[in-house]
Amino acid sequence: MVFTSHCLIFISSLILSISYCIGQGSPQAKALILSVTKDSSTLQYITQIGQRTPLVPIKLTIHLGGQTLWVDCENGYVSSTYRPALCGSTQCTIAKVNTCGNCSSTPSPRIGCNNNACYNTPENPFIKTFYSGGEINEDVLSIQSTDVSNPGNFVKIPNFIFTCVPTFLTEGLASGVKGTVGLGKNHIALPSQLAEILNSPRKFAVCLSSSTQSSGVIFFGDGPYMMLPNIDISKNLIFTPLITNRFGTGSVPFLNESSSEYFIGVKSIRLNGKPVSINKKLLAIDKRGNGGTKISTGSPYSILETSIYNAVTKAFIDELSNATRVTAVAPFEFCFSSKNIGSTRVGPAVPAIDLVLQTTRVYWRIFGANSMVEVNKNVICLGFVNGGLNPTTSIVIGGYQIEDNLLQFDLARSTLGFSSSLLFSQTTCANFNFTSKA
Ligand SMILES: *[C@@H]1O[C@H](CO)[C@@H](O)[C@H](O)[C@H]1NC(C)=O
Ligand SMILES: *[C@@H]1O[C@H](CO)[C@@H](O)[C@H](O)[C@H]1NC(C)=O
Ligand SMILES: *[C@@H]1O[C@H](CO)[C@@H](O)[C@H](O)[C@H]1NC(C)=O
Ligand SMILES: *[C@@H]1O[C@H](CO)[C@@H](O)[C@H](O)[C@H]1NC(C)=O
Repeated sequence: MVFTSHCLIFISSLILSISYCIGQGSPQAKALILSVTKDSSTLQYITQIGQRTPLVPIKLTIHLGGQTLWVDCENGYVSSTYRPALCGSTQCTIAKVNTCGNCSSTPSPRIGCNNNACYNTPENPFIKTFYSGGEINEDVLSIQSTDVSNPGNFVKIPNFIFTCVPTFLTEGLASGVKGTVGLGKNHIALPSQLAEILNSPRKFAVCLSSSTQSSGVIFFGDGPYMMLPNIDISKNLIFTPLITNRFGTGSVPFLNESSSEYFIGVKSIRLNGKPVSINKKLLAIDKRGNGGTKISTGSPYSILETSIYNAVTKAFIDELSNATRVTAVAPFEFCFSSKNIGSTRVGPAVPAIDLVLQTTRVYWRIFGANSMVEVNKNVICLGFVNGGLNPTTSIVIGGYQIEDNLLQFDLARSTLGFSSSLLFSQTTCANFNFTSKA
């Protein structure tokens, strides 16, 4: 408590408050990192973060557009530095919440269930569930720094703001996972809180490994981002504006606030360079926040609204007329014998899928490594899923399509930098050197 009030006296802005509180002791890190592993059964991307006093490692699923770090506080949360955020506090203001009240379940008060507390609405995207009673709290968080080539010391953040949830919200998460870490664009999501600690621009970069055996990496802070063998993967990024969905629909449908999710402006789709005919209206975000294209690790594969799905898959099959179709393997519909499909450095030799952005010359090209899923030794399937006729978002670019691609999110400038497949540059997202320097 002493620490909090100490901070609050001195500040009027978040920037000052957190850097003041963290300032002493920790040498200024250039960037921070998380190691990320793909879980083979749920296909979720999992990381581990130190939290609480004494510090314990907590497993969390990455939620790219998620608005908060939320964790199960009902089961096994023990910490001497845990503090609830009281109504009207700076923490509640940063979290932009105005719901305030007493926790009604018993026994109370306890961790995650306090009087005079403020609440937000955390989401579990894997079971499509929102919980409106997420209590805002703060506690110690510990995260590893990097010199951009190797890991360095752990940096302790004394007053990290997070959300407490009951155990039921962890349903559908991978085994041993206690919550999710939101990497959304809002101020209590991890990237913004860490940018304040680093005193750096609000930039972070995601590089997910396609392997369940070797870890990918998320960098908080600016590049360069070095991968073995000494390749700066932040070079040669292509940039496109991030689009604000002002109507909240991307994340929390019933709140009248801007979504924490990352939308980009896909204008059209091309297959092997040929335009696919799709209803352009679906690509825009309408007045209720529906439509458009978002990037989300809340789904293992990309999801396309039915008419877009039909148009893209038809064009794909037409272009791949020589391949032998085989029985579908769920959740995919279009599967092929891999025998007569050649292979290239960027995966199976199949038609390139281009997501065309702000102009016809700016596009995100998806190669075989990101479009085809090997379901067994002889069969590969087109890794896109039919999203039905009226999905909230028309195109969701899912986890598989961003593996071994670098995505750099610049929240201050509201731009996305993307690399397309790193396999072209002869590296992968599993090539960060996680061995610390002596
Ligand atoms: C919350 O609990 C406090 C302490 O028990 C009590 O004084 C206050 O009236 C309660 N507020 C509400 C809104 O119930
Ligand atoms: C919801 O957002 C719209 C657009 O920003 C605004 O005009 C309206 O007043 C808001 N409504 C509420 C209830 O806050
Ligand atoms: C399809 O097969 C024909 C005949 O073998 C060949 O000429 C053609 O180049 C092939 N097309 C593709 C796209 O592989
Ligand atoms: C990884 O980094 C460590 C520490 O700097 C170094 O000793 C090792 O040679 C590096 N590994 C590779 C494959 O370069």
